[in-house]
Amino acid sequence: MSNLLRCLTVGLCLPLLSSRGAAQVAPLIANINARQTTSLDGQWQAIVDPYDVGALDYRAQPLKNNHAFYKNYKPQSESELVEYDFDTSGQLLVPGDWNTQRESLLFYEGSVWYKRSFDYTKSLKNRLFLHFGACNYLAAVYLNGEELGEHEGGFTPFDFEITDRVRARGNFLVLRINNTRGRDQVPTVNTDWWNYGGITRSVTLVEVPETFVQDYFIQLEKGSTDQITGWLQLNGAQLQQNVTIRIPEVGFSKTFATNSRGRANFSFGAGLTLWTPENPKLYTVEIASETDQVTDRMGFRSIEVRGTDILLNGKPVFLRGINLHEEAPMRRGRAWSDDDARTLLSWAKELGCNFVRLAHYPHNESMLRAADQMGILVWGEVPVYWTIQWENPQTLHNAENQLNEMIARDHNRAALIIYSVANETPISDARNRFLRQLIQDAHSADPTRLVSAALQADEVVEEKHITIHINDPIASDLDVLGNNEYIGWYARRPEDADSIDWISEYDKPLIMSEFGGDALFGYHGDTFARWTEEYQENLYEHQIAMLKRIPFLRGTTPWILKDFRSPRRTLPRYEDYFNRKGLVSEHGEKKKAFFVLQRFYRELQSVQLLK
Ligand code: GCU
Repeated sequence: MSNLLRCLTVGLCLPLLSSRGAAQVAPLIANINARQTTSLDGQWQAIVDPYDVGALDYRAQPLKNNHAFYKNYKPQSESELVEYDFDTSGQLLVPGDWNTQRESLLFYEGSVWYKRSFDYTKSLKNRLFLHFGACNYLAAVYLNGEELGEHEGGFTPFDFEITDRVRARGNFLVLRINNTRGRDQVPTVNTDWWNYGGITRSVTLVEVPETFVQDYFIQLEKGSTDQITGWLQLNGAQLQQNVTIRIPEVGFSKTFATNSRGRANFSFGAGLTLWTPENPKLYTVEIASETDQVTDRMGFRSIEVRGTDILLNGKPVFLRGINLHEEAPMRRGRAWSDDDARTLLSWAKELGCNFVRLAHYPHNESMLRAADQMGILVWGEVPVYWTIQWENPQTLHNAENQLNEMIARDHNRAALIIYSVANETPISDARNRFLRQLIQDAHSADPTRLVSAALQADEVVEEKHITIHINDPIASDLDVLGNNEYIGWYARRPEDADSIDWISEYDKPLIMSEFGGDALFGYHGDTFARWTEEYQENLYEHQIAMLKRIPFLRGTTPWILKDFRSPRRTLPRYEDYFNRKGLVSEHGEKKKAFFVLQRFYRELQSVQLLK
């Protein structure tokens, strides 16, 4: 029973491999951009299929004949009935969400079929993979009328090997993308961001030697500033090889042997200039096996906690941050390009940031690489958001898979320091078990980084005094605590923050991972008038005064850099389906609160410089 059928019959979308002979999602190939690649981006043929007639017959049984859209079948005679035609069905841009490409698709949730034809001549001995940066939410992939497989999760990359399936001419690649929300999914049915559907990131053909360097992990050991630890994984028939790691700029070169499973673990000393936000030093690192070579630009820094301090390269650091959603800076829809990333991060830099929280899901790789180059530390997160199905083993498997895919893609980025496993999740035994599993997964997949989550602390009111207690049981398993609070917007008045104190059960650093309030750019009035820039400005001033009084606070990421689309925000004139908590509008216009935060961060920077 295919995915789609289960989707329709039980209203849930569960990742199941269906037809005989489907390929598996291949192990993720690291650092695609440094490989021999061919882009399949551009205009793709597309069929919008709200009733999934491209996959199911009127009895909701999976179609296997030429009526199935992935067959891309053309009538052989005037009398033959074929009720679909990619080539006359219009186009959609890839990468891109479908919602902002056609007014009629703005709110669309369902299936869209994409088709892309291509010719490809592969070098004889080489292997060929199809790489997808991300597709939201469920992707079923077909090549030349055959199913390759499926991928669930809208924000992480996946590959399929097509070495034996590609032909020199006339290949047709077909994807069915479905973004129907499901209770058992990650995220689940309720989010405060737009459910952008489509092939939202680049599609690439990647040609590699028969045995190639599939993945590598090269980082400073936790707490060390000169000992590098890591591993390397080959993929292919010739798994036992000598592999050399070179850092030409410092004349470093070391050779290791891979074992019978193509794996080499290594540790070695290297005197390198450490990566910092002020000096984001990147080195060219060459990884060469006997049959393959890949080059990467990497920075080296250590990150750890000691009591309530976060130590970057052994020195205490304050994370001056801001939250971002993955929306394009000056156009509608999902961001995906280097330019998008650089523009958004340059706004964060203008604020005085050395840190960003990429909410609430893994953003595109361009964002991580731009952060590496621009010197911005990163909090990455998987969309375990609000009320996930904690008891459902499929949901856990799905969340673990998304976490591992995020780590596999980004584990060589110096900028990335924190993996977050959840946002605003209600405390329960099932939830604690679920999150503890993810925390364990993150630590075992990458022991060099910190793990956090955005929690929600409880208020304790005694007479006129309010104390907020950080006492979430899951905090004992985290390295860094994150906390979301909306004092002055969803609760109390902005000035109430003046008499609020914070205590924590834990000797751990706190990042105030969300705070803020809405304002419509250009709408002005009294500080107590909601939606005005003056209200937001006033709220920030009281927040900052409160934050300065929290002894274990080591970072802040206000909600949020830019106004963003949300289906939960229906108030005409003020919201119009936008969350207005941005410090800049969706057109990049700066609100008054932008300068309040900028002043605070400049102040912190000058203090930091004095240390
Ligand atoms: C929540 C949540 C965000 C949301 C924000 C808001 O805390 O984490 O995703 O957008 O608050 O309500 O604006």
